[in-house]
Amino acid sequence: MAYNNNPIGIFDSGIGGLTVANAVTRLLHDENIIYFGDTAHMPYGDKSIALIKSYAVRISKFLIEDQRCKAVVIACNTASAAAYEYLRDELKGQIPVINVIDPMIERVIEDSSIHNVGIIATKTTIASGVYQEKLSRRKPSLKFSALATPLLAPMIEEGFYNNSISKAVLENYLKQPELKNIDALILACTHYPMIKHQIASYYHESVQILDSAEVVARKLKMILAKEGLECEKDHVHQDQFFVSDFTTSFEKTASHFYPKPISLIKTNIWDNNFDQQS
Ligand code: DGL
Repeated sequence: MAYNNNPIGIFDSGIGGLTVANAVTRLLHDENIIYFGDTAHMPYGDKSIALIKSYAVRISKFLIEDQRCKAVVIACNTASAAAYEYLRDELKGQIPVINVIDPMIERVIEDSSIHNVGIIATKTTIASGVYQEKLSRRKPSLKFSALATPLLAPMIEEGFYNNSISKAVLENYLKQPELKNIDALILACTHYPMIKHQIASYYHESVQILDSAEVVARKLKMILAKEGLECEKDHVHQDQFFVSDFTTSFEKTASHFYPKPISLIKTNIWDNNFDQQS
């Protein structure tokens, strides 16, 4: 059987993608992960599709050409909305690219208990209409409503979660009329699982709260198996975490949400000299 011990590249604007990296590590514990948090450009959610696409293309190049990744996971809804189709087509036949939106769409349309689903995400993800388009095309009978919640990702990135500030901001969004009468809520931003318990308790556990981490990890596992890209069992490996700018909140929050110790490497991939510091 063929093996491939090269790492899996995972990226986001900041810490949000760690929720996906965490699920990948739990499901595929022998695999090696290279994580890239584009903290210098965070938040992505208020930027244009063209700008986010240019970041996603550059980060993918770093992961594939410099870090020799065998697969790339876009662990960010905003970057998935902006760049997935482009990267998938550009890299076709070379390496698989996995986004966080399609596995969630599959999850929702297959669940017959969901009739009215809410979507919360960044401004750019909501404005792209990608969830709305895919849900209405794949399951026309499904009711859905979408609400941009732009304060949430920067708030979480700054370390404000599971406290009274995050509770107040969150409640202000969740009480909006768009989210009335829903039976499920898609957390369409990878930062939001970090406040999943607060969201669930707002609804007194009566609304299904859906995040993409596990469905994305399962999709990745399936693709690696199908493409003959799985690693050997117990090969020596070490995950690596790159950021485009050092932020103390990244280090602090990352240590809460990732099961293994993280040491950050700052790299300026926008500069040809590749200045790297740990
Ligand atoms: N975590 C990212 C997402 O899933 C967005 C956060 C940001 O605005 O940078 O959309």
